Amino acid sequence: MDNQDLQQVAAEALAELESASDLPALTRWKGQWLGDKGKVRALIGNIRNLATDQRSAYGQAVNALKEQLEAALNEREAGLKQSALHHALASDTVDITLPGRPAEMGHMHVISRTIREVTSAFVQMGFQIWEGPEVEVDRYNFELLNIPAEHPARSMQDTFYISDQDKRGTGSLLLRTHTSPNQMRVMEQVKPPIRVVVPGRCYRAERTDATHEFYFYQMEALVVAEKVTLADLKGTLATFARLVFSPDAEVRFVCGYFSYVEPGVELMVRYTLPNGKRTNWLELLGAGMVHPNVLRNGGIDPDKYSGFAFGMGLERVALLKYGIDDIRHFYANDLRFLEQFG
Ligand code: PHE
Repeated sequence: MDNQDLQQVAAEALAELESASDLPALTRWKGQWLGDKGKVRALIGNIRNLATDQRSAYGQAVNALKEQLEAALNEREAGLKQSALHHALASDTVDITLPGRPAEMGHMHVISRTIREVTSAFVQMGFQIWEGPEVEVDRYNFELLNIPAEHPARSMQDTFYISDQDKRGTGSLLLRTHTSPNQMRVMEQVKPPIRVVVPGRCYRAERTDATHEFYFYQMEALVVAEKVTLADLKGTLATFARLVFSPDAEVRFVCGYFSYVEPGVELMVRYTLPNGKRTNWLELLGAGMVHPNVLRNGGIDPDKYSGFAFGMGLERVALLKYGIDDIRHFYANDLRFLEQFG
């Protein structure tokens, strides 16, 4: 082994180093050339075979080779680390000029929206908003409204009963079939003048079809004061129809029967749809002058005060307002339907 041989070894080692393209390859190269069992160590071991006067020169040359290779390794390692970093930085870049992804916003259910629209029309007319329980006692849902047991009017509404007796023995518990029990609940708590609306969910044991659901929202209205007349009822409902349906909406009464009002009427409306078409006369709600018995049941003197009440189906309001053909759409949770009312 002379210097020329060592130079060849160096050239070979450096060429291999050059072709090591990642850090694991570098580690392998290091073991092969500079490790305990590597080639440079083997060269050092050759010293024993040399004549004494050549050993020193040879030893220095091998040491120089070792240092050269170590320096080359360090350089290459630093180079590879640098380029790995560059690569990572380049592939991780965020392009801040790209347009953002829009966050999807939810919106109110069409029935919640209708409840707010309708109640706010009445708030504009000076009404207060009340609420009452969905689980009612027979007394409020029927009896105090002039519908005694066995009265045929009970069969107008199929009722979900919860139990025959409530805990206090005041009669059967049921799911309210309308919001009318709140007429009594309000009269028990406040004295005239009364002007309230009471929205809430009601239940009926009915088969569902395009116009019937077994649960639905109603909004009850009750006005009691001195000298309240049917004309006040009509004026209130005409204002409501103009606020909620269209500014040119018209209303008219036809006779209706509800045992808690006398006279009882049904309200018909005619209005302009968003597409500009004028509708036929459509039935909207039941109403009437509060029956004297009902006023008495509420502790109010019917000779001094009179009042009107009405109850409207809020799904019906939405059906008419938006021209929807089937009440079952509202609670089917089909987003294709619901998203039209964003
Ligand atoms: N409670 C009646 C119904 O459910 C509506 C109504 C309320 C009628 C108040 C007259 C007075 O259809």
